[in-house]
Amino acid sequence: MTQQATENTSGGDKQHRYQEWSRLARAMASRLSPARQAHVRGVVQEVARLCRRYGEDPVRGEVAAWAHDAMREWPSQRTLRMAQELGIVVDEVEAKLPVLLHGPVMAAWMRVHWKVEDEGLLQAIAYHTTGRAEMGRLERILYLADLIEPGREFPGVETLREVAHEDLERACLLASESTLRYLLDRGELIHPRAIEMRNDLLIRLGGR
Ligand SMILES: [Fe+2]
Ligand SMILES: [Fe+2]
Repeated sequence: MTQQATENTSGGDKQHRYQEWSRLARAMASRLSPARQAHVRGVVQEVARLCRRYGEDPVRGEVAAWAHDAMREWPSQRTLRMAQELGIVVDEVEAKLPVLLHGPVMAAWMRVHWKVEDEGLLQAIAYHTTGRAEMGRLERILYLADLIEPGREFPGVETLREVAHEDLERACLLASESTLRYLLDRGELIHPRAIEMRNDLLIRLGGR
């Protein structure tokens, strides 16, 4: 059970709402390109595995997985317009790379239009691309699943898959460092939240 489950609703109501959000998110995902749909299905699978492993509510995980990339293929202008409508403050990195907003915009949209009040779920969706400091359990699960779902192939992914099922925090650190290296090697912009995620994990794990 999640902390939100206890808030004035019976377990049945709660379950019903999550199933409804899952259905809506799945319908949105069905409009993505075939390749992206395959990725999302992979994330759904991987999130389910990690939820089982770490005692996370699987229905909550399912909503996060189906919803996470629902706006990923929107043109930049549409994403930026929606961000503005939803009152999201766009920073300079996001202004340059509006694709980074597909998580934050989807989370804000779910809060307004689906009346989702599960902050842990919304944060998982909002920060699945960049990560951030002090990530919750579901956030970590989605961040990792996005990178290690069965369709992903990159150097080190096998190690990451192994560590993901042993130690969620350590796997997130490895994943974050692998992503940062990839971006640096390509001379890409790096969002400050990605650096904050890595520093937070390094400090927690006693590395520095
Ligand atoms: Fe994404
Ligand atoms: Fe994704």
